[in-house]
Amino acid sequence: MTLDELLTPADLRAALEADARTGLTATPKWLPPKYFYDDRGSRLFEEITRLPEYYPTRTEHAILVEHAEEIASVADAEALLELGSGSSEKTRMLLDAMARGGRLSAYVPVDVSAGALNDAMAGLRRDYPDLVLHGAVADFDHHLDQLPAPGRRLVALLGGTLGNYPPGQRQTFLSSLAAAMRPGEAFLLGVDLVKDADRLVAAYDDSAGVTAEFNRNVIAVLNRELDGDLDPDDFEHVALWDTQNEWIEMRLRARRPIVAQLAALDLKVTFDAGEEIRTEISAKFRRSLLEPELAAAGLHPERWWSDPAGDFALVLARR
Ligand code: AVJ
Repeated sequence: MTLDELLTPADLRAALEADARTGLTATPKWLPPKYFYDDRGSRLFEEITRLPEYYPTRTEHAILVEHAEEIASVADAEALLELGSGSSEKTRMLLDAMARGGRLSAYVPVDVSAGALNDAMAGLRRDYPDLVLHGAVADFDHHLDQLPAPGRRLVALLGGTLGNYPPGQRQTFLSSLAAAMRPGEAFLLGVDLVKDADRLVAAYDDSAGVTAEFNRNVIAVLNRELDGDLDPDDFEHVALWDTQNEWIEMRLRARRPIVAQLAALDLKVTFDAGEEIRTEISAKFRRSLLEPELAAAGLHPERWWSDPAGDFALVLARR
């Protein structure tokens, strides 16, 4: 069991400082979604995945249950590399199917959280004693070309995470990924699909208020990490469907005028009443647009699996 540390706590800290300074002094204000996921945020996200309104996780799970065998056989890989592996929950289905196919020898979980990787790898070591575990603490915007390659890989990016990128950054990410893969390696991508606006908005504004807490958690992260004095309760959770861009946008809206300090940055941040911070976009996809976009990056779509309602899809593309 090996863990490469391509991203250090100091790197993460420097990125947060730079992003917070840039995003909170911009007009309109923004913050990258990756800072939601401290321990509390990761727990809240797990809770989101079990909400009745949040269909993506259970739908992707159902597609995997139904098609894991076929995915493993089309992928024809010796190693599974998972980008943003977190707790490695849905991984097991793929690992099992690949192991039954007979060629699997290694699993490479990649995440920004060393803690999550250690826990996940410890659990997998017990259940898959013969599997080589070679994880990497990495940021997949910077370290794609340095990730472990213990054999011909299936690279997986599940859960709809690709939707967090604005289109330009998404194209950059896909091209960098293609450049970091060897010809013949496979890419398995989970994407949420365009659907009825009411269902989309409900998935990001649930009746129990869990997503609202998850969104406001980024304020708690700023307070803790950057010695801030913002009050999470001063911000209202906003989720809207942008019909033009076909993405969900989450925002935090100031309920009143706010003057706050981020002492670690020596930065004063002010909000007018009603002013918003964009905290996340979550793009939704159409097969007719996504497949050419993948191909343009050098990742050639071979198979598409969806649920009967067409809510979510897994696409397998070949480098
Ligand atoms: C983990 C990025 C796929 O965009 O649906 C869930 C995060 N945000 N509810 C998504 C999220 C609000 C999620 N991803």
